[in-house]
Amino acid sequence: MRKILATAPMMAWTDKHCRFLHRQYAPSALLFTEMITTGALLYGKQHHLLDFNACEHPVAVQLGGNDPVAMAECAAMAQSWGYDEVNINVGCPSDRVQTGTFGACLMQQPTLVADCVRAM
Ligand SMILES: Cc1cc2nc3c(=O)[nH]c(=O)nc-3n(C[C@H](O)[C@H](O)[C@H](O)COP(=O)(O)O)c2cc1C
Repeated sequence: MRKILATAPMMAWTDKHCRFLHRQYAPSALLFTEMITTGALLYGKQHHLLDFNACEHPVAVQLGGNDPVAMAECAAMAQSWGYDEVNINVGCPSDRVQTGTFGACLMQQPTLVADCVRAM
């Protein structure tokens, strides 16, 4: 079995400064951004949300959303920014993501998740 050491995506924690610190401790771990919502990325400050330090590779961006078109647009943006992996938040149970109908509650909508994956 291939084992991967990864840091957890953590809202309000795993920004590029935190990930830089994590990289000092874990030279080859897969680092995750905090969850970035599609709305924030499409209508907000993209450089602030997506910029990372060169030493962060391998680094994955975690997207929060449920609209296949928006998810595909954000995945393309992340790819052009140089991310190694795009991850969908289908696990976070916080009240905030439930209001937005993504995160863990997407587990109840597997067809919609499949549509997002297909579009991305
Ligand atoms: C402060 C905090 C923020 C988190 N933010 C996210 C997030 O943005 N996306 C996500 O998928 N999980 C998020 N999580 C969940 C963690 O990624 C992880 O799955 C959870 O802490 C369980 O891991 P553990 O058993 O090693 O503690 C967060 C957890 C914490 C404590």
